[in-house]
Amino acid sequence: MAHEIIVVHGNGKLAGDVRISGAKNSALKLMAAAILAQGEVVIRNVPRISDIDVMSEVLECLGARVVRNGSADRDEHVLTVDTAEVGSFETPYELVSKMRASISVLGPLIARFGRARVAMPGGCQIGARKIDMHLKGLEALGVTFEIDHGYLEASTENGLRGASVALDFPSVGATENMLMAAVVAEGETIIANAAREPEIVDLANMLNEMGAHVRDAGSSIIRIEGVPLSTFHPCDHTTIGDRIEAGTFLVGGALTGGPVTARGINPSYLRMAIAKFREMGCAVDEGADFVTVSRTEPLRPVEIQTLPHPGFPTDLQAQFMLLAACADGTSVITENVFENRFMFAAELARMGADIVIEDHHSLVRGGRPLQGAPVSSTDLRAGAALVLAGIVAEGETRVHKIDHIDRGYEDYVGKLQGLGADVTRELPYSGHRATVRVKADA
Ligand code: EPZ
Repeated sequence: MAHEIIVVHGNGKLAGDVRISGAKNSALKLMAAAILAQGEVVIRNVPRISDIDVMSEVLECLGARVVRNGSADRDEHVLTVDTAEVGSFETPYELVSKMRASISVLGPLIARFGRARVAMPGGCQIGARKIDMHLKGLEALGVTFEIDHGYLEASTENGLRGASVALDFPSVGATENMLMAAVVAEGETIIANAAREPEIVDLANMLNEMGAHVRDAGSSIIRIEGVPLSTFHPCDHTTIGDRIEAGTFLVGGALTGGPVTARGINPSYLRMAIAKFREMGCAVDEGADFVTVSRTEPLRPVEIQTLPHPGFPTDLQAQFMLLAACADGTSVITENVFENRFMFAAELARMGADIVIEDHHSLVRGGRPLQGAPVSSTDLRAGAALVLAGIVAEGETRVHKIDHIDRGYEDYVGKLQGLGADVTRELPYSGHRATVRVKADA
């Protein structure tokens, strides 16, 4: 609901099992990739979050039909995407400005139509979020771009041709857009310095299930043998678990002592986070599709550098800053991926944390007990971390702007309640709602 807030009372409790949803940062791209195969593509384990709703709108705007639990088994996490009727290649500003990940349709639209008209995404709270590497990589495949009144006009005079491209930075989005165009380019494409995130591997697997020939996704050199668009066919693909959602709940287990078990996640996606949990004094147990974090001794300070995968994920930086604020000693956290991703520190400071920011380094002096306070989410990961902070803070915490959280966490409050947290969604002034006097019958 619009303008709801999350109210947390610090009971220090978070323990039990939580079912992890499908990965937001994979499912969004799998939906875009469905543009390549005419017919009904089935995507399973799709989280129920607002970003997925926006991507559904983007596809419907192009002429596709998107149905949730459209498949026989009525599972609410199954999306059926039918792009047979897709006839437009334009994505309006109104949708791109709602969700910058809409830019992920650029590659598949060029692959399908040889052209695309996509609104330029703006920046956001965490940074400029440029797309120069997307454009440079696609230009190497034979795409030409014009900027027309805030829109990217993409076209290919002589079709897409394979090329050897090196990315200046292993950009997730640029790797994905290039992948989804290169799969129909004539000849071989090599993407060097490619992003290695598990979501890239998930996308490559689905592209291959549709008929593509992608090799070595997950490594920094991806090889693609282009095949004709006409050979692409629909598939039935299950999205991988969301490693960032899992990491967020496991931070909750480290904060309170847990034990918290995240189920439906491949532990190999969380190697760096698991190493940092252990460095900070937590016990970590893992199995084929779960990770459990618990703690009996005081949290130890830590040094963290966020880096592209397999480095420490920037999307867990705020959550670990919270852990560091509760540790005995001083931690150093450096943000190397986004230029402005420390806004969370200012909100946490309102709860009593002692954090000094120096350029892209933060010094977190831990050990001061946190106090509940009214705070605001600055991005979805910071918002999720503020709710966790409220669980271990003294008193009540009211988290505002929770639409950020709803973009990337399915039923966050319900899952936390299931782990014993005293947390609810409320209308901001529900605590002070005037009592409505019902006039007795005259
Ligand atoms: C994806 O964003 C994720 N979003 C982000 O998750 C995640 O933090 C990020 O990858 C890094 O892992 C989705 O997948 C929808 P990048 P993306 O291209 O693709 C700069 C979350 O919380 N850059 O790897 O935009 C860019 O500005 C979100 O779920 C350029 O300069 O990330 C950034 O500083 C937040 N030019 C850095 O590279 C380009 O052409 C990494 O960006 C592209 C990127």
